[in-house]
Amino acid sequence: MSVYAEFHRRSIEDRDAFWAQQAEWITWQTPPQTICDHSQPPFTRWFAGGTTNLCHNAVDRHLAARADQDALIFVSTEVGIEKTYTYRALHDEVQRMAATLQSLGITTGDRVQIYMPMVPEAVFAMLACTRIGAIHSVVFGGFASGSLASRIEDAEPKLIVSADAGSRGGKVIPYKPLLDEAIRLSRHKPAAVLLVDRGLAPMERVAGRDHDYATLRQQHRDAQVPCVWVDATHTSYTLYTSGTTGKPKGVQRDTGGYAVALAASLPHIFMGKPGETFFCTSDIGWVVGHSYIVYGPLIGGMATILYEGLPTRGLDGEANPAIWWSLVEKYKVSVMFSAPTAVRVLKKQDPAALKQHDVSSLKALFLAGEPLDEPTGRWIADALGVPIIDNYWQTETGWPLMTIANGVEKRASKFGSPGVPMYGFDVRLLDEATGEELTEPGRKGVVVVQGPTPPGFMQTVWRDDARFVKTYWQSIPGREVYSTFDWGVRDADGYYFILGRTDDVINVAGHRLGTREIEEAVSSHPNVAEVAVVGVADALKGQVAMAFIVARDAAGLDDAAARLQLEGEVMRVVDGQLGALARPARVLVVNTLPKTRSGKLLRRAIQAVCEQRDTGDLTTMEDPAALEQIRALMAR
Ligand code: PRX
Repeated sequence: MSVYAEFHRRSIEDRDAFWAQQAEWITWQTPPQTICDHSQPPFTRWFAGGTTNLCHNAVDRHLAARADQDALIFVSTEVGIEKTYTYRALHDEVQRMAATLQSLGITTGDRVQIYMPMVPEAVFAMLACTRIGAIHSVVFGGFASGSLASRIEDAEPKLIVSADAGSRGGKVIPYKPLLDEAIRLSRHKPAAVLLVDRGLAPMERVAGRDHDYATLRQQHRDAQVPCVWVDATHTSYTLYTSGTTGKPKGVQRDTGGYAVALAASLPHIFMGKPGETFFCTSDIGWVVGHSYIVYGPLIGGMATILYEGLPTRGLDGEANPAIWWSLVEKYKVSVMFSAPTAVRVLKKQDPAALKQHDVSSLKALFLAGEPLDEPTGRWIADALGVPIIDNYWQTETGWPLMTIANGVEKRASKFGSPGVPMYGFDVRLLDEATGEELTEPGRKGVVVVQGPTPPGFMQTVWRDDARFVKTYWQSIPGREVYSTFDWGVRDADGYYFILGRTDDVINVAGHRLGTREIEEAVSSHPNVAEVAVVGVADALKGQVAMAFIVARDAAGLDDAAARLQLEGEVMRVVDGQLGALARPARVLVVNTLPKTRSGKLLRRAIQAVCEQRDTGDLTTMEDPAALEQIRALMAR
């Protein structure tokens, strides 16, 4: 048995001993009493009875050895700022923020929503929350008021931390009006709003509710706020993600299990060492940002780069396709983490740009979030000359479910495959309809995880255990297994290939979006009677959303200009409610939508037609002409 196969085997078969050992990667106030409690499946509780603190592990514990080493490196090519915080400075800032939160009434268990651009205060706020045992819930800054409102209603935060504005490609995007509108739409109203004023956009303050961070920070300049020791099973955060219904799920994560999972992943998967620099180009609004911009690198004693901006603009605001590589050179980045979409954007630029910089500090580039196509993988591997390591995971898993654990044993990657199941994950492939396990290579099935789930995995859906069980654990007949809702196949060497979602989730530029959410937004346009949104393959973004609508009043819509106007209006509705990232690439008017005789929308058939694939068996279809119209529209 290979070294890694044995490592993986122990993580499953000798679970308690294996994970008790991994638990030593972090600092405990009191050691865990039980390692894995799986007495109430499908719920898994890790390290119960042990007390610890995420912020202590990410910041305070490093003060003795590396107070003067870099912890947070903030680079914004949007506003032309480059600023470094040592571990000591980060410790000071987190305490100022923690004292500010306390002064606004926040204590252990309270929810704090964070709706912020990529600024250091967002990281301070996350760490300040976990420092005092408050539960943070970060909402991606690219979401608009409708998305934000539904998350406010579900999380019921006492406080929302936000900012005047973000910026993208030099264009200021005001956040405060979106926040005010979201609070207006939400049935739950936060008691307080804490605002970071970047001086980018004017803000109207609501008296008695809105507070300026600059003032409060000054008041708490010398604050000392000790870490609150919490049980390993204490909820550290919730992070909303899209699924099959229109209502996003609050993925809830613990403290001790998460800290252990991240701490262990650094040496085993990412090969990152204390004192080195980690550069993850994701956003704090996504799980990758939580795990590998904020908590992972800091728990591992590394410096982490927080990057605000496009991959193609320099600090001077001029076009610069080599900005990331210049940062790799300058900060001697050893571990880099990005997404295939970003690489495809860079691929369109001049490859010589990359060669201007010394990237020899890099051990590997990790890519995740969407399938890595071979041409993109090969291009960046050749250009950088370092291993490109695909890793497959989900908001729910918190860290990679499949990749190659080169820190345990070096093993070749295969193009198109994220690799093999990570330690702690008992992965199976099942037949969707029968629940039969597919053991022989080459058969396509649903990727599932047999419980108990490993440390770092979601605890439950926030305030909805029933939804957690029903959605994730009861989707396959006769089996109680966690479904990833991804199709996969395994080859004879045990490498997996991920073949897309089994549900209505789409992946646009690595962003996970629910087509139902987009459909709900589109439907709110007064002239939309019915709508179907599907994800269609796109060379740059992986997938784009396409919307097909049936108009309430089709009069005049035989005119191309009128159709174009309606398309623009629908796009603006989506922009306003969900944000531009959810905007369909096209909104096309049809007479009817393809449905089964029982009225079920045939989204997979629409998608197949859009991608010029075989639609499969359509004998249950009500009106074949509906699909023909879509085919004709797409052919234009
Ligand atoms: O469909 C899979 C796809 O992204 C989904 C999870 O998205 P999210 O919750 O945003 O978490 C992203 C964490 C990296 C998965 O169900 N996906 C993610 N990584 C890969 C991938 N598909 C193929 N290859 C990957 N490496």
